[in-house]
Amino acid sequence: MESPIIRTENLSAYYGDFRALNSITIAFPQNKVTAVLGPSGCGKSTFIRCLNRMHEIVEGARVEGKVLLRDRNIYEMEPTLVRRKIGMVFQKPNPFPTMTIYDNVIAGYKLNGIKLKKSQADEIVEESLRKAALWDEVKDHLHKRGTFLSGGQQQRLCIARALAMRPEVLLLDEPTSALDPVATSRIEELIEELKETVTIILVTHNIGQASRVSDFTAFFYLGELVEFGPTQSLFTVPKDKRTEEYLIGKFG
Ligand SMILES: Nc1ncnc2c1ncn2[C@@H]1O[C@H](COP(=O)(O)OP(=O)(O)OP(=O)(O)O)[C@@H](O)[C@H]1O
Ligand SMILES: [Mg+2]
Repeated sequence: MESPIIRTENLSAYYGDFRALNSITIAFPQNKVTAVLGPSGCGKSTFIRCLNRMHEIVEGARVEGKVLLRDRNIYEMEPTLVRRKIGMVFQKPNPFPTMTIYDNVIAGYKLNGIKLKKSQADEIVEESLRKAALWDEVKDHLHKRGTFLSGGQQQRLCIARALAMRPEVLLLDEPTSALDPVATSRIEELIEELKETVTIILVTHNIGQASRVSDFTAFFYLGELVEFGPTQSLFTVPKDKRTEEYLIGKFG
């Protein structure tokens, strides 16, 4: 397999006494899209939130085991650095409502207290919006508020905001579930383009989306990693009965 950029070793996650993830060991290949698939409540969001130290923000939540980014344990790194290298986009587009499009894109720098020269900021804004396939639509109104955009555009703005930090890994938690089919297919095309520069982990409920855009699929069930492999083979010859039943729509 291609070299993994990020991997977990016996990763378990808890909310108080409740164990939401049970000893997950998985390695994500670089510059590929891996779909994280499974029924509601199986632990998909919890899992990716452990990958950039967002899980521990919840009161009473903790993790056991390791998450290694290029062999460095992220739980021994500065959390803000981890979140810069491993960006995240959520289900509902959440641009900062009072900020302009321009300021939204570079918000991560401001929040991290990193000062940019005007020319540097201009460059990062343009590059990130181009990568997020939004530049042509917004270049003439960068100083309008982000919330004036459509839902799909707002989601691409959030992707641009994550890309602006030049992450190595991008975590997407059901990024299209609040979008219409046209906006969804734009994001799916974008994911294809982005994997040239960033490794993508895509949580999705949508089996069609996983088969369209992912190279690898991880199937989770009740906090366990049931099966992981190339999407093509997992979808055609699943090894585990639970994977097969999920794919044919028996549950979830
Ligand atoms: N903040 C929380 N406090 C306590 N339990 C939680 C919390 N968030 C999630 N859980 C529990 O952890 C388990 C996994 O939830 P998680 O949100 O990771 O699932 P999911 O696979 O992302 O589901 P969905 O597809 O509905 O988004 C569930 O049993 C859920 O009830
Ligand atoms: Mg979820």
